[in-house]
Amino acid sequence: MSADKRAVPVAYLDHGATSWPKPQPVIDAVVRALTELGGNPGRGAYAMALDASRAIFEARRACAQLLGVADSRDLLFQSGCTAGCNLMLKGTLKPGDRVVVGSMEHNAVARPLAHLARLGIEIAVVKADRTGLIDPDDVERAVRQEPTRAVVCQHASNLTGTIQLVGDLADIAHEHGAIMLVDGAQGVGHLEVDIAALGVDAYAASGHKGMLGPQGVGLLYLAPGLEADVQIEGGTGAGGSESLEMPAERPDRYEAGTANTPGIVGLGAAAGFLAGEGAAQRDLEADLARRLHEGILGIEGFRVLGPPPGVPRVPIVSAVHERVDGDRIAFVLDRTYGIAARAGLHCAPWAHDTVGTFECGAVRFGVGWGTTGAHIELALRALHEIVSS
Ligand SMILES: Cc1ncc(COP(=O)(O)O)c(C=O)c1O
Repeated sequence: MSADKRAVPVAYLDHGATSWPKPQPVIDAVVRALTELGGNPGRGAYAMALDASRAIFEARRACAQLLGVADSRDLLFQSGCTAGCNLMLKGTLKPGDRVVVGSMEHNAVARPLAHLARLGIEIAVVKADRTGLIDPDDVERAVRQEPTRAVVCQHASNLTGTIQLVGDLADIAHEHGAIMLVDGAQGVGHLEVDIAALGVDAYAASGHKGMLGPQGVGLLYLAPGLEADVQIEGGTGAGGSESLEMPAERPDRYEAGTANTPGIVGLGAAAGFLAGEGAAQRDLEADLARRLHEGILGIEGFRVLGPPPGVPRVPIVSAVHERVDGDRIAFVLDRTYGIAARAGLHCAPWAHDTVGTFECGAVRFGVGWGTTGAHIELALRALHEIVSS
């Protein structure tokens, strides 16, 4: 079959968007949830509903252990990082508050903040440097200027792979009486994340990217004592159906509606998988991303965004060619070589603006679980041929 008829890519290099394939334990857990855990968790006292509740409890515990969260009830299942970011921002910020935010944010943060700005929340943007890094001193200056309710920053960039110093930013926020809110979509899985050690107040994570879980599930950590206004009200498994108020207890307060049991159980299996394999996987990804980065720099006319080789990054490598458009490159990579990569603005116009690629976009490669050296070599050969023809 020719590459242009193939739905399954020869080389999947779009892990920045979502991970694929999934580890077998994740697939097995989803199948088990669909075949054996069909009851509605928290909504019945019969055996299959109780089994579903137990499986969700265990998945939450596995995720909490992976992420260094002491009380798993502080870890809320959400439909993804976008939902987690919306809850942490809209739930904790009020008209009159001031927010200091980095300029590399994804639309999962930028759009809720734009909404909040229309409600009277002041947004002060701290510009990252050309490698995408936010300088903590710039954040400190911005926070010192005026009373600030929150510092908001991503853990890693989905455009440049830049890793932000979120632990240092949390210290700065706290010294000035602010809270620290983090978009960790590109962090978990690709980085070893210990939320307690980072000292942040809220951390939203994607379940389906570096965490290797199914799509449609993510996590939000809310520090004990940090109350967020509920964004979605409805039924929960916590009892108290006679009341029109949401229960006070976590996690039920923030998880109205029937849970995504297959997604959550799959995510729990992914957390277990990462607890065992994560360190080796991170080393492999770093090596493959470095080879890709150095290889692209060796092809005439390419510029790679983000930190230079040798500086740690999450395994995302985005490039711009001086002559050939990124959309064209991604199109030919797919149609001729069967390589899945993403061009355009990657839902991150602020980040592209920061690094000077808003007008042209970039072609992005995301390395992850299942990526091999052969995939990297194929991508480099293809890029060379595309820009030489
Ligand atoms: C930095 C960043 N934040 C948030 C998101 C949204 O994550 P999700 O797909 O889990 O909603 C993404 C997804 O691309 C991302 O890269």
